[in-house]
Amino acid sequence: MKNRFAIAIDGPAGAGKSTIAKNLSKKLGVIYVDTGAMYRAMALYLIREGVSAEDAAAISEKCASADISIAFEDGVQQVMLNGENVSGLIRTEEVSSMASRSSANADVRARLVVLQRKLASEKSLVMDGRDIGTVVLPGAEVKIYLTASSAVRAKRRYEELLAKGEQCELAQIEADIIERDHRDMTREISPLKQAEDAVLVDTSDMDIEEVTKVLMDLVEEKCG
Ligand code: DC
Repeated sequence: MKNRFAIAIDGPAGAGKSTIAKNLSKKLGVIYVDTGAMYRAMALYLIREGVSAEDAAAISEKCASADISIAFEDGVQQVMLNGENVSGLIRTEEVSSMASRSSANADVRARLVVLQRKLASEKSLVMDGRDIGTVVLPGAEVKIYLTASSAVRAKRRYEELLAKGEQCELAQIEADIIERDHRDMTREISPLKQAEDAVLVDTSDMDIEEVTKVLMDLVEEKCG
């Protein structure tokens, strides 16, 4: 295997990217970088600053004062916002919704892409997101586009929420997923799309072990 390599995993929410990327990074002994967490930390900052998701000029102005970085605790990524560990605060629906809107802003993306490329220039990693294979790391050794039907993704999310004891409706979850996909795929800057040289993996009928095995085989084939 090369001295330093990058594995880029892109795809819509709920396709299993983060679970699979974590598994892969453990097996390969490299770090896992969740770029969605960076967009979420930025969204949290904008919410705290009282910025409206519709106010592009305010998002552009305010994002310049958000210092986002990541740290690792026992190998697990922690996202820091102006020195505060906000990892436990970024998984709410409010933050998801703001992140989906503010991540369409060119200034927000420019700030975070610099951080993502810096990480990849220092260490081998598995990085997941929406534009890793297309924009952030176009030279990544392995590119995977992980997807699943919206019905399957909604069901996974529904079961996760039920397990946490949260009230939810399957149809509403699927509607939200479809809306978010549409926004991520149709935005002007860095839309979610499969890179030409990415391998498409549809996880609708696969369990986590099966997906991990397919991806490990791909990594071995491409990185030797
Ligand atoms: O993967 P996630 O749900 O944590 O991502 C949160 C939001 O950030 C989502 O709406 C898409 C956006 N995002 C992005 O635009 N580019 C990335 N590389 C990662 C996430």
